[in-house]
Amino acid sequence: MGRIIAIITGASSGIGKAFLEEIVREHGVYGSVTFDEIWAVGRNEDKLIGIKTRLGEDRIVPVKADLASPEDMSAFAERLALEKPQISLLINCAGMGMKGTVEAHPAKVIEDTIDVNCTSLAKLTRICLPYMTSKTPHPAKAGKPRIINIASSAGYLPQPGFAAYAASKAFVISFSRALYYELNDRGIIVTTICPGPVNTDFQRKATGGAQTEFTGIRKHVVADPVKLAKASIKASKAGRQVLVYGFSQKALHLASKIVPTSWILFFEKKTMPVEDPAAGIEDGLPQPEASEKSVT
Ligand SMILES: NC(=O)c1ccc[n+]([C@@H]2O[C@H](COP(=O)([O-])OP(=O)(O)OC[C@H]3O[C@@H](n4cnc5c(N)ncnc54)[C@H](OP(=O)(O)O)[C@@H]3O)[C@@H](O)[C@H]2O)c1
Repeated sequence: MGRIIAIITGASSGIGKAFLEEIVREHGVYGSVTFDEIWAVGRNEDKLIGIKTRLGEDRIVPVKADLASPEDMSAFAERLALEKPQISLLINCAGMGMKGTVEAHPAKVIEDTIDVNCTSLAKLTRICLPYMTSKTPHPAKAGKPRIINIASSAGYLPQPGFAAYAASKAFVISFSRALYYELNDRGIIVTTICPGPVNTDFQRKATGGAQTEFTGIRKHVVADPVKLAKASIKASKAGRQVLVYGFSQKALHLASKIVPTSWILFFEKKTMPVEDPAAGIEDGLPQPEASEKSVT
């Protein structure tokens, strides 16, 4: 095995960028591991190069990749096969979501959401696993390889008006928690992170630019991405399976366990009407005539 590396997807923005900055702030040291390289993955290479320049950290390696592209994923796998690094930390943070009803979205948006949030996360994890080795058995100790998967509290409950996103995050939670038990005897720790609303560019992108900030009840519980990254790293180092971040999200998590889902969804519908902020985007697929569209 070659150099010891960390891989962070979604490193060009928001929470992933905060992870990258936090690891650099800790001088590339993670427990007893010092990274030789930190691979920062994203589609926007200029942004990644800009972050590397601003942080003045030579060990950051910008990796331009569209994780929804099978070609880019194959190229990533080939690069690993060629360089044979020892992956000590994998942070799956890249993600996207588009608010609005399922009917208001082009089918491509739903496909992209599943591709980036689910398929790429599972596939990248699988591709990286052969390069993550640890001979030390459980329980957790410093120096063991870590995986941090960024899910969301949206994954605990179905979410009308954000259906594909919430379902994709339910996948991330289920996949990551199962993976924890598959890997912990091998000494690889998988930590699932479930934040609520976080102050990043996510909301702007999710509403097609219509809203730059969270609204309604969510605006009162918005988390800071740097604090979230710090808490996530701490949870990962401690070998925790899941971090539900913030009091409000812990309360929501508890409610999702004890209150019937239909009651919560009824309450949500009454208090938070479903909006279609990004409605009207077309994806070029054949559509019925306007008069046939709504069948009641
Ligand atoms: N912000 C929130 O309220 C919130 C709450 C809970 C969970 N989360 C989760 O946190 C994660 C990070 O979101 P964020 O808030 O930091 O949003 P963000 O600022 O929009 O960042 C999203 C990141 O994902 C990357 N990405 C998106 N599509 C990609 C693709 N096809 N290929 C490669 N990279 C891609 C983007 O990089 P490029 O544009 O360079 O490709 C960007 O770095 C996501 O998984 C999100 O679901 C966010």
